[in-house]
Amino acid sequence: MSIHPFSTAYSLSGSRGALAPISATIGRKAGYTLDKSPPHRRAANVFLVKCMKTNMEAGQIRCQNQRLSCGIRQKRGTFFLLHLKTWTSDSNQCKSSGSVRVSGRSSVLQVQREGVWKTVCSEDWNNLLGVSACKQLGYNSYVESFFIPLTSIEQNLQYNLVSISLSHNLSQSQTIQLQNATTFSKTQCTSGRVTTLKCLECGFRPKYTMTRIVGGNISRPGQFPWQVSLHFNSEHLCGGSIVTSFWIVTAAHCLFGFTNQSMWRVHVGQTEQPVHGAQSLAVEKMIFHARYRPKGLDYDIALMKLSKPLDFDGFVEPICLPNYGEEFEQGTECWISGWGATEDEGETSVFLRSAMVPILSTKTCNQPEVYQGLISPWMVCAGYLEGGTDSCQGDSGGPLACEDSSLWKLVGATSWGIGCAVRNKPGVYTRITRSLSWIRQHMEVSP
Ligand code: ARG
Repeated sequence: MSIHPFSTAYSLSGSRGALAPISATIGRKAGYTLDKSPPHRRAANVFLVKCMKTNMEAGQIRCQNQRLSCGIRQKRGTFFLLHLKTWTSDSNQCKSSGSVRVSGRSSVLQVQREGVWKTVCSEDWNNLLGVSACKQLGYNSYVESFFIPLTSIEQNLQYNLVSISLSHNLSQSQTIQLQNATTFSKTQCTSGRVTTLKCLECGFRPKYTMTRIVGGNISRPGQFPWQVSLHFNSEHLCGGSIVTSFWIVTAAHCLFGFTNQSMWRVHVGQTEQPVHGAQSLAVEKMIFHARYRPKGLDYDIALMKLSKPLDFDGFVEPICLPNYGEEFEQGTECWISGWGATEDEGETSVFLRSAMVPILSTKTCNQPEVYQGLISPWMVCAGYLEGGTDSCQGDSGGPLACEDSSLWKLVGATSWGIGCAVRNKPGVYTRITRSLSWIRQHMEVSP
């Protein structure tokens, strides 16, 4: 018998029959109770450690009925599933740890039920559910939901369907956890339509009019309104991208070792490096991926939360996060921007500069003469094998942005490279589609 590792089974089950569920509190090593004898206690121990080690990595641990749950398979004669349910009342992690996502090129809404991602049919959908879904995704805004034919979306999003309805009346100000609403699994949407979700107006450049580009690749005001400059101790260290009024996406290596958040300032809406003392925003919270290690290259992703929300005015605008499952093909023309060095080991630039770089496939980038297999699923390469145009020191954390049917999306965060603009050594960027569930988990809505 093969058991899906994230099936609904709450308990141990398998050829030896169902065993009792195990409960535990994450983070408190000795605090769990086991209702079975030592072998199971041992199993649960291993299990708990594994759960904690994965640090809420999507798929390993998920939210179910406001509990964090985590499952692995253990071999014991035949496979059985051990399902640990935990609940962290003192953390918000469960609120947004991946029971809602927006998928595919049409931004269809999916909810996770019983460990399976299901596309939401249009029937019974309402705006209050939309507001709730956006909150769970980390937005404090909601724009719209509209409905599109089931047959118009990607095949793999069509198989598992669900309709959601509010079982009880809620007042306008209340929101719910979508996974707590009443859902009906479906094989077909009665309406033939599915729900799309838009939480934020993003990816537009309202104050940018394409005129003749003056001064080569120096950027014009409003051209990259999501670009920020992160200052530590009044010095530009890294770039970043605005994704909501509160949150900046950047690279973990920018923040690692500089965790004193009172020393950071976020400069927005600028193209020139500000003179000392210029106005900037304070940082309330910094989070970097728990698996990031300074000696490694993976998980180079971080979030900064601003102490007060940004006003979007055309010179300051959010960039869209991509949807789950969206791929940006080799050759897609994207843009990098930043105040980084204009040559290897050079100085930070005074002006915001930018360049068009095509996406390179991981296969190309992993070739022996390029990065020899160093490129992991957490990375995306962009640039030119012949060299000449690239990001460089000081650009890290900043955007690799691609325009996708007139919306700009954040595809990468500048991460690393060997030298700058060197032949066969293109820029490597943290892959945002891979980082999405981590970003969602941590971008919880502030009250
Ligand atoms: N790690 C660099 C930084 O901290 C970014 C390097 C990008 N390098 C490249 N060749 N694309 O700013």
